[in-house]
Amino acid sequence: MVARLRAAGCVFAEDEASILLSAARTREELEAMVERRAGGEPLEYVVGWAEFCGLRVFVDPGVFVPRLRSEFLVSVALDLAGAREAAERLVIVDLCCGTGALGLAVAAGVGAGELHAADLDPAAVACARRNVEPAGGQVYEGDLFDALPPGLRGRIDVLICNAPYVPTTEIAFMPAEAREHEALLALDGGADGLAILRRAAASAGEWLAPGGVLLVETSERQAPSMAGVMSAAGLDARIHSDDDSGATVVTGVSALQRRSRADDRLRAS
Ligand SMILES: C[S@@+](CC[C@H](N)C(=O)[O-])C[C@H]1O[C@@H](n2cnc3c(N)ncnc32)[C@H](O)[C@@H]1O
Repeated sequence: MVARLRAAGCVFAEDEASILLSAARTREELEAMVERRAGGEPLEYVVGWAEFCGLRVFVDPGVFVPRLRSEFLVSVALDLAGAREAAERLVIVDLCCGTGALGLAVAAGVGAGELHAADLDPAAVACARRNVEPAGGQVYEGDLFDALPPGLRGRIDVLICNAPYVPTTEIAFMPAEAREHEALLALDGGADGLAILRRAAASAGEWLAPGGVLLVETSERQAPSMAGVMSAAGLDARIHSDDDSGATVVTGVSALQRRSRADDRLRAS
């Protein structure tokens, strides 16, 4: 089995073989799983789950497989959440949630909190419901903030948005596992990769609680532009990098004091 997986290009053939062995209930099932994996299907689709931040999350075919590097975004979120008062009552929203793994991991890390997740892709929504609802969270379907209940406006403490950020012309160079098996909607970030993140940042201020934070993942090259987008949206932007995983996260914190219309009139006069 290891030899077949290695010949098919699986770098961690021994590890994958033991995962497949533990997942299959019969010899026939194991044979079928090895066949699918050797044929290039992501391991997570073959076994139906992925490990993320120590949690096991369901992954349905076509739904974006949560990446190891996104654990860095979770750790940045937990650092910032820990600095907030009453961390266990935080309102956590995972926009563009895919399986819902990132929001789940942040909610598990803060110990409780109110968890909401949303995605445009009905397959991702169905998958996220399997993961998020048993943990007491809610999942909605729709385009970015349009999916959320209006009652969340101005109340979100931690707003995760790991949206697609690969520029359209670079999708052809992604590994076949992603290109051929994950939905294009989960990968394509538009001309410069920031099309969806730009829209998310523009509206984030209305939805964040005072002092709340928006967290997004980008490439290292995109991070300064993304930080500029967040600053232009009135958020206090910062870039965080992790050398081990190569992950880059951009955060934008909303002002602690919400400006009133009277403040704006005063500034304008
Ligand atoms: C890169 S995947 C990330 C999924 C998940 N956040 C994760 O890290 O595992 C991006 C997700 O954004 C969703 N998406 C794309 N455009 C969207 C939009 N306009 N509104 C909401 N979700 C969107 C895709 O369906 C996909 O599930």
